[in-house]
Amino acid sequence: MKDRIFLASPHMSEEGYEKSYIKEAFDTNWIAPLGANVDGLEKEFCQLSGNRAATALSSGTAALHLALKLAGAKPEEKVFCQSLTFSATANAILYTGAEPVFIDSDYETWNMSPAALERAFQKYPDCRIVVPVHLYGIAANMTEIQRICKAHDAVLIEDAAESLGTLYGNKYTGTFGDYGVFSFNGNKIITTSGGGILAGNKADAEERIQKARFWSTQSREPVRHYEHKELGYNYRMSNICAGIGRGQLRVLEKRVNQKRQIFEFYRDAFSEIDDIEMMPVDFGGQRCNCWLSVMTLKPESIVKPLDIMLALEQENIESRLVWKPMHLQPFFADYDYIDNCGIAEDLFNRGVCLPSDTKMSREQQIEVIEIVRGMF
Ligand SMILES: Cc1ncc(COP(=O)(O)O)c(C=O)c1O
Repeated sequence: MKDRIFLASPHMSEEGYEKSYIKEAFDTNWIAPLGANVDGLEKEFCQLSGNRAATALSSGTAALHLALKLAGAKPEEKVFCQSLTFSATANAILYTGAEPVFIDSDYETWNMSPAALERAFQKYPDCRIVVPVHLYGIAANMTEIQRICKAHDAVLIEDAAESLGTLYGNKYTGTFGDYGVFSFNGNKIITTSGGGILAGNKADAEERIQKARFWSTQSREPVRHYEHKELGYNYRMSNICAGIGRGQLRVLEKRVNQKRQIFEFYRDAFSEIDDIEMMPVDFGGQRCNCWLSVMTLKPESIVKPLDIMLALEQENIESRLVWKPMHLQPFFADYDYIDNCGIAEDLFNRGVCLPSDTKMSREQQIEVIEIVRGMF
């Protein structure tokens, strides 16, 4: 069988930066959830992303959980959450005992609709926490979402798990809200094999992020014996994973450019096929990281997303449907949903995530394109 073409697989630096950071950890025996790589990753991440403070954690989901805890999410209170996302965004809300209210998307950004968010505040004026997502690397409408959050005095948590490297204006996504959450899962634009970062950019970010760091290490008080006054978690990133992260950070910009080239190549190749539209990128002065290249099929197309997935799978090529919205998930069926003409559901019904692996060769991408073209 020929080599599998992946949706997005780990891509270590050609220079071997990751190995040198890991070697240093081995040589100094810092095989622990603390050490020079953890500190280095946090510092270098802040320098690169423009955040004031950051803490390295075991996953993006852990980062979401601690962001919600910092925001003071409490049992039974409502949290506004983008519906079109991966389940981790909504799960983290339930970890705190709070209840998600799902918000529909808009076609301009595929992310949280500001109009639906306004309506959500009309229905639940006491809501204090809002969680938009920058899906597939496309920035949400932060200008409007920030304005609405400010007007309602709400804490803004950006789920930037998929958008590291995306610029909105001249700032990175994940620096606009009170907290930015990033994932280094194996399929993300850069990876630590598994891990995440919780970052903050507000005036008190240093102190807030330090509190999350404290919770992430079992809330151990700084005294000689084991003293605990608060509930703790084992959420810290290991010094080995952080070493991979430091190496990967050095090639982030290169990976963004590669991902963008992959996207542009698909866009040009499919430009004559009326039934295919590519996801919206680079509108309103943003630079999308193009983590995944996603296309939608026109409603009238006789070719459906599943047909494309199956045709690719036959040639050992991985693709994926767009996230199934949270308000349609059986597990989340009891939570409220603020509709904006069913846009999240429509994108789920018509979208396909194409192979966007930076290790994919041009020839392999042409093979993907030919298979898709051949269906029309
Ligand atoms: C939008 C979104 N939020 C949160 C997460 C959770 O990140 P992690 O897998 O690192 O826990 C992911 C990805 O995995 C994601 O795609």
